[in-house]
Amino acid sequence: MNGFTEKNGILYVDNVPLPEIARKFGTPSYVYSASSIRSQYNALKSSFERALPSNWQPLVFYACKANSNIGVLKLLKTLGCGLEIVSEGELYRGLEAGFKGDQIISTSFGKNYNEISAGIDAGIRQFNIESWEELEQVNRIAAEKDKRTAVLFRLNPNIAGGGHEKISTGRHDHKFGNNEEKIVEMYRRAAGMKYAQPRGVSVHIGSQVTTVESFRPAYESIASLVKRLRKEKLDVDRLDIGGGFPIAYEKTGALLDLNSFAKWVAEIILPLKTEIQIEPGRFMVGNAGVLLTETLYIKETDSRRFLVVDAAMNDLIRPALYEANHGIIPVTSNKGRNTVAYDVVGPICESGDIFARQRPLPEIRKGELVAIQSAGAYGFSMASNYNSRPLPAEILVDGDKVALIRKRQNVSDLIRGESLPEWLD
Ligand code: LLP
Repeated sequence: MNGFTEKNGILYVDNVPLPEIARKFGTPSYVYSASSIRSQYNALKSSFERALPSNWQPLVFYACKANSNIGVLKLLKTLGCGLEIVSEGELYRGLEAGFKGDQIISTSFGKNYNEISAGIDAGIRQFNIESWEELEQVNRIAAEKDKRTAVLFRLNPNIAGGGHEKISTGRHDHKFGNNEEKIVEMYRRAAGMKYAQPRGVSVHIGSQVTTVESFRPAYESIASLVKRLRKEKLDVDRLDIGGGFPIAYEKTGALLDLNSFAKWVAEIILPLKTEIQIEPGRFMVGNAGVLLTETLYIKETDSRRFLVVDAAMNDLIRPALYEANHGIIPVTSNKGRNTVAYDVVGPICESGDIFARQRPLPEIRKGELVAIQSAGAYGFSMASNYNSRPLPAEILVDGDKVALIRKRQNVSDLIRGESLPEWLD
């Protein structure tokens, strides 16, 4: 069995019933399906295998901000992924999971000293550069270590993409990347640097890019930039075409036809004869995870019926932050039950702590388990301790095998690192 399926009225993750996971590890817990991660990766790979010759296959750098648990990273490494990182912490996680430096690329926006220094020490494959000053900083730190390092320049193609304003990155009024003019100028100046070595350009127009047609003009602007750079005799041998591939949050089927997507790459990027890199995050893990939660209470008011669950916005902030619509389903069969409209809420003290408004669901009882779907990406990785709530557990299931890949925090974890000022004695 692959992913999350119903069997005899019970929701399973791979071959394991979710109630068994809840009994063993408690709730709220993030539960991930290894087989589902594997099949996403394979789907992506095989669409490229059909569209591009074997010696021009893109290298996949998993964007680990989506889900950075080292168990998940290790799984993706065994599948053949590299890693896209945005901080010193993500570099540390990647190395702990067993990635080698040359399998890691850094794309963070405002790279600090430690992060650049640790990246160079680890021998990472490249830094994607956001500004001239950042480039000078990379060059300077590389010089201190007398180590050369590859750099790519991020293009801002002025294209709208991304499923929500807060996760769109490709327009000129966003902080990311630079326009074509500026990149040509930076590239020219960088060509004379001793330690930072310009290798190519990158683009990433946003996340959950549901207007999938936007990928095409973004790739076309990369192609036109490469031609311009080459006309100036500047070497370009590596292109990073970013991530942002969307997943279905509600049951509307696939949002991205991988085959046409791979064909755009074959049409627009392949003729440039460079190494090709992609940086998918959400696509690899989003639908491979649920947030498993227990119904604490059903609270009825004059105008609403609230389903109060033991997960909250600190565990999964996407609905509160991006108005994201995650599927919500009871873990045990709902046949024959009435449908009722619920506001699904958590225990946190603000009205924004809501997973769904007026969501029609089969009538749910106190104590029942509920799965919040498509929570494998930007779920745990964005979780916080707000309201002094311990972080949930994370569990990875592969067929019959079950592993606790992050144990639930307890209350003493909450004050670790804090101290009482001695003058308050
Ligand atoms: N590459 C770069 C340079 C990125 O900034 C990102 C995501 C990715 C790749 C991966 O994008 P993906 O394939 O996962 O869409 N917290 C938000 C998403 C923020 C994405 C930030 N950058 C959410 O929960 O929707």
